Amino acid sequence: MRLADKIAIVTGAGRGIGAAIARAFIEAGAHVAIAERDPLTGAAMAEKLGERALFVETDVTAQSSVDALVETVVARFGRIDGLVNNAGINVFHEPLETTDAEWARCMAVDLEGVWRVCRAVLPVMLAGKGGSIVNIASSHSSTIIPHTFPYPVAKHGLLGLTRALGIEYAARNIRVNAIAPGYIETDLAIEYWNGFPDPEAERQRTYRLHPPGRIGRPEEVAMTAVFLASDEAPFINATSIAIDGGRSVLYHE
Ligand SMILES: NC(=O)c1ccc[n+]([C@@H]2O[C@H](COP(=O)([O-])OP(=O)(O)OC[C@H]3O[C@@H](n4cnc5c(N)ncnc54)[C@H](O)[C@@H]3O)[C@@H](O)[C@H]2O)c1
Repeated sequence: MRLADKIAIVTGAGRGIGAAIARAFIEAGAHVAIAERDPLTGAAMAEKLGERALFVETDVTAQSSVDALVETVVARFGRIDGLVNNAGINVFHEPLETTDAEWARCMAVDLEGVWRVCRAVLPVMLAGKGGSIVNIASSHSSTIIPHTFPYPVAKHGLLGLTRALGIEYAARNIRVNAIAPGYIETDLAIEYWNGFPDPEAERQRTYRLHPPGRIGRPEEVAMTAVFLASDEAPFINATSIAIDGGRSVLYHE
């Protein structure tokens, strides 16, 4: 029970990595608000996770929706100890082919959405004299894969946001960290593979990119999110932990 009675919000927890994090938090003893845009997956996931899960339909790009989320959680539990900013979307283009709308769509979710939720939650954490924020970044936060623009711009920015907020509130007992996953087998990854003429060949190629010869599982990200949100990481702040089987340090010819 490493998160016994902690109150947490996990954005984008209707499926994928966010769902695994919500499940792991609940198994560790937390109460979790599933802050998901999709009403079907959000409600179904809360139902599956049981009475310590609360679905709050939330669009992280809309201020009124984020404010309503925080009001709902505070009204129900009185405080917020943990926030996992997991909601994210892939927006992949060649830079000069990126329209303003696509740039804005990416930034709105992957960067500004995270700030929007932090800005609403931080006053509650400050009033409660502490908290832990975990931002789900990416390998794209420190490396560039051509034709994935502007996703890495947003994910690099997310590391900057993590560091800025981590420093700003450290003396008031709030830690802000990031997790940078490599490929993780979720619907998002499967949808990406399905965009290739031979999805199975692309899947196998991504397996080979990672030194263990496989890609990650959502539960493997969730374990680290539990650790960072728990009292076992009291001096870990303003940093990022890679979960990529070593891919980010592998030298490529
Ligand atoms: N899967 C990977 O290989 C991988 C690798 C590195 C980083 N990531 C990051 O991990 C996070 C989760 O990825 P995933 O693979 O589980 O994706 P996913 O698409 O399976 O799940 C993302 C969830 O976020 C929700 N969401 C999207 N926009 C939202 C919004 N505006 N408000 C609220 N919820 C919203 C979606 O409805 C969905 O349920 C993302 O931030 C992604 O960038 C994923």
